Amino acid sequence: MGNETLDNLLNESRTFPPSDEFAAQANAKAELYAKADADREQFWAEQAERLTWDTKWSQVLDWTNAPFAKWFVGGKLNVAYNCVDRHVEAGHGEQVAIHWVGEPGDTRDITYAQLQDEVSKAANALTSLGVKAGDVIAIQLQMIPEAIFAMLACARIGALHSVVFGGFSPTALRARVDDAAAKIVITSDGQYRRGKAAPMKANVDEALEGAETVEKVIVVRRTGSDLEGEVPWTDERDLWWHELVDGQSAEHTPEAFDAEHPLFILYTSGTTGRPKGILHTSGGYLTQTAYTHHNVFDHKPGEDVYWCTADIGWITGHSYIVYGPLANRVTQVVYEGTPNTPHEGRHWEIIQKYKVSIYYTAPTLIRTFMKWGAQIPAEYDLSSLRVLGSVGEPINPEAWIWYRETIGANSAPIVDTWWQTETGAIMISPLPGVTSTKPGSAQRALPGISAKVVDDQAQEVGKGGGGYLVLDQPWPSMLRGIWGDNERYRETYWSRFAEQGFYFAGDGAKYDADGDIWLLGRVDDVMNVSGHRISTTEVESALVSHPTVAEAAVVGASDPTTGQGIVAFVILRGNAVDGGDEAIQALRNHVAKEIGPIAKPRQIMVVPELPKTRSGKIMRRLLRDVAENRQVGDVTTLADSSVMDLISTGLQSGRSED
Ligand code: WT7
Repeated sequence: MGNETLDNLLNESRTFPPSDEFAAQANAKAELYAKADADREQFWAEQAERLTWDTKWSQVLDWTNAPFAKWFVGGKLNVAYNCVDRHVEAGHGEQVAIHWVGEPGDTRDITYAQLQDEVSKAANALTSLGVKAGDVIAIQLQMIPEAIFAMLACARIGALHSVVFGGFSPTALRARVDDAAAKIVITSDGQYRRGKAAPMKANVDEALEGAETVEKVIVVRRTGSDLEGEVPWTDERDLWWHELVDGQSAEHTPEAFDAEHPLFILYTSGTTGRPKGILHTSGGYLTQTAYTHHNVFDHKPGEDVYWCTADIGWITGHSYIVYGPLANRVTQVVYEGTPNTPHEGRHWEIIQKYKVSIYYTAPTLIRTFMKWGAQIPAEYDLSSLRVLGSVGEPINPEAWIWYRETIGANSAPIVDTWWQTETGAIMISPLPGVTSTKPGSAQRALPGISAKVVDDQAQEVGKGGGGYLVLDQPWPSMLRGIWGDNERYRETYWSRFAEQGFYFAGDGAKYDADGDIWLLGRVDDVMNVSGHRISTTEVESALVSHPTVAEAAVVGASDPTTGQGIVAFVILRGNAVDGGDEAIQALRNHVAKEIGPIAKPRQIMVVPELPKTRSGKIMRRLLRDVAENRQVGDVTTLADSSVMDLISTGLQSGRSED
């Protein structure tokens, strides 16, 4: 937590009520809170009715085996049918589901009828390879339509997808493939990144060397001849997507699965080095993603054009590109590339072209747009925008106001949505037609959701008080566990407040004088870089796996653009005395190779010692002081109190911006 956020927070008193016109037409009215409070389970049953069920549930919630929830017990549905087929059956086959925009400028409009054909063909293709319900399929793809076809094809046949972010390294992909025993991997030949074609399949091949569970690799041709060199190929194992899928029948009958049938696994960072496979299931997940997309974004099917700028490699892409929006018959933009390719006005150009009305992005990107300057969006017609969303980290009031004034014409409500990979869907957020929004606050748990800020003793703090954010009631899209590790699930989320049965989210939070919630960042050893969770331990393990590093400690230091930046302190091995620029650069690249470019430390400092307590625990608080150029705090619990002097005087630092 930087001081800056605290200061801003204390001074913030501006509020922005929705206009009367917006409030009058909003999907969610103020009564929704009272309705949910009156009977929570009945409320969620009504939300589940938004979906098409094959068999209705007999019980809304079974929480007898807490923390393992069952929602809509006995209900059966097909998730892909709900996202695609039922819209075609209702006469909307010609509605565009996806306006896809490729980075080089190629585009593709996909209607619901076409989406149905593509998903059905992909489902038939997977079945032809022997894929069955319950099998795991790893997907490492950039933002191309086939990524969405593949996810929905899995859902259609009851296979679980495990999407691995395209920027993750071969090592990271392999760990995820092995943990879930993935049978199939779906990837592409290459991906466009800032105007250049970069290899994907070659990295996947490196990852899969000796991977025993993988039977087939399906490769989408995206970069083709733009990619330098041959695409490496293993004849018995590899298949081109177009050769496998295009010839399949477009007829496929979706089978109904139990409401608790697993839908997907998505890996996220925890406080230890080993990523956690977060498990989500079908009925409750789809209910809450659809409910929140409808009410938080005020989405009107057939009228709005929606754009969520996340990548499908993260939970935001799963819940707010694929499942929630498509269940609600969205027309949405999906963009393949980076926001400054080929120019810094790319997003605004796309909004103007497709008349985007709902735009959902991350604070780190808003701050980047601020840096590029207001003159860039000013060149485009953004008058179609009527709701703006933010997710991934606390949004600082300055960025919030800029977003409202420069992008939202001072009128579009901003919804600051707090949630996590684990929660599956939005939990705390304004309702755009109801809430008087406050710059920087996510404000209040949604109708049907219960959140509290509590102290160490699990007592709710009063107005103006700060503490830990907990969720004290189960919710439909909650994670159902960590893949293959029930004990870790209990330990990670349910042990801190076991007696009370609270879910501990790992975030600090406070109530303001009105009782609105302000998120204050992670309280555990997890960093938040550009809205992505990265554990300090993971980066430390990557550093010490380098032959020159003896010991490493990593902290997240506040960063004006990315929220937090990764700062590493390393002790080099005796024979590796050289801590010069080149050596530092090599270490940064090593981390990028081990985990992926997003985990590359912003800064690495070579130090002679690390500050440790008598029990050997690294005191990250002190390192954070150094990383943020602050006066170093209380050192009395250090085993050797001279260590901090050594660090401050012997500091050799390397910093670079890429
Ligand atoms: C962590 C979850 C939810 C999708 C993207 C990240 C932080 C998320 C907000 C927000 C303040 C936020 C929290 C949370 N976070 N949204 N609106 N305000 N903090 O998903 O990778 O699972 O990360 O992101 O610290 O615990 P994730």
